[in-house]
Amino acid sequence: MHLHNAFCPDGFILVSKHFLMNLNGEATFDLYVGPSSEQHANEPLLLMHRYFPISKLQDIVTSRGFEQFFIKKEDLFNFHLLVENNISMLIDNQEIPLVEKSKIIYNCASQVIEDIFHDPRSGKNLKRVDDISRNIIQFAFSNDDAIPSLLQLGSHDYYTFTHCLNVAVFSIGLWRHIHPMEKTGLQDFAFGCLLHDIGKTKIDEKILKKPGPLTSEEFSIIKKHPQYGYELMADLIPETSLNVILHHHEKHSGKGYPDGLKGNQVSDFVKIVAIADVYDALTTRRIYANARDPFEAMLTMKEEMVGHFEQEKFIAFVLMLSGGEKPRITNDITYH
Ligand SMILES: [Fe+2]
Ligand SMILES: [Fe+2]
Repeated sequence: MHLHNAFCPDGFILVSKHFLMNLNGEATFDLYVGPSSEQHANEPLLLMHRYFPISKLQDIVTSRGFEQFFIKKEDLFNFHLLVENNISMLIDNQEIPLVEKSKIIYNCASQVIEDIFHDPRSGKNLKRVDDISRNIIQFAFSNDDAIPSLLQLGSHDYYTFTHCLNVAVFSIGLWRHIHPMEKTGLQDFAFGCLLHDIGKTKIDEKILKKPGPLTSEEFSIIKKHPQYGYELMADLIPETSLNVILHHHEKHSGKGYPDGLKGNQVSDFVKIVAIADVYDALTTRRIYANARDPFEAMLTMKEEMVGHFEQEKFIAFVLMLSGGEKPRITNDITYH
């Protein structure tokens, strides 16, 4: 995927040679190489015009020894689509470093969720969410370091779609931490996590992005998002996924919403997503609040949110994170 730390000219994105060499299908993007000192060029040079079979590229690269590849920023979507079709194979490829696999999954999944938030009932987008949730699970169970590596990439700023992705990664991680060998229902669970806040697409952005405290009327509108999400997706996705969307704000004490369900009235999946959701919200910078660091977030959840979560799962979550969490920026905290 694009590698943020390496040198990259304006308007271009550096793409991984590992991926290019292992893709199948037709490239729907222009591909550039360099620049190298021999070429005396400041800008990457066009190697291939779009609509070429990737196999052709593989022959050229092998014979001419190119190392650095770029695409134009405007072609990122097309590049993602080709990568999405090949992700499963890339995850299985032992020669690709774990961190590159994490980047590709995180970037593709962010794109997929952003797209479905723009068009929630598109069959094509739903299929892409289904595929990417399967890929995240495949990756999570392929290596003990996969989840921590994905969590390292979590956006420090809050966007609904990266939040949904982070919540899915935390949730799959916690499920695997508790049930290392059990995948029954996990696919539908992950699918629901990726879409858990989809109902926010029905709520006015002015309320969602309000920089100050919400009025009680505004808060009651925001609280409708689980129900809106359920209604939006009701005839399209599995029951387990719908359950996650509808109940992710229920609390163990029964004081959550929309149904005030208590304890075991919700599934283990719902108990897990409830923890992941709050943790990601606390550790991500919001318009109205700075990010808390992991320790502060866990302390807040333990001491200020008594009765919100099932104790056993919350402890498991803390243990999971103590093995590798996403690093956060600590500032003066005024979360509300
Ligand atoms: Fe929510
Ligand atoms: Fe959420």
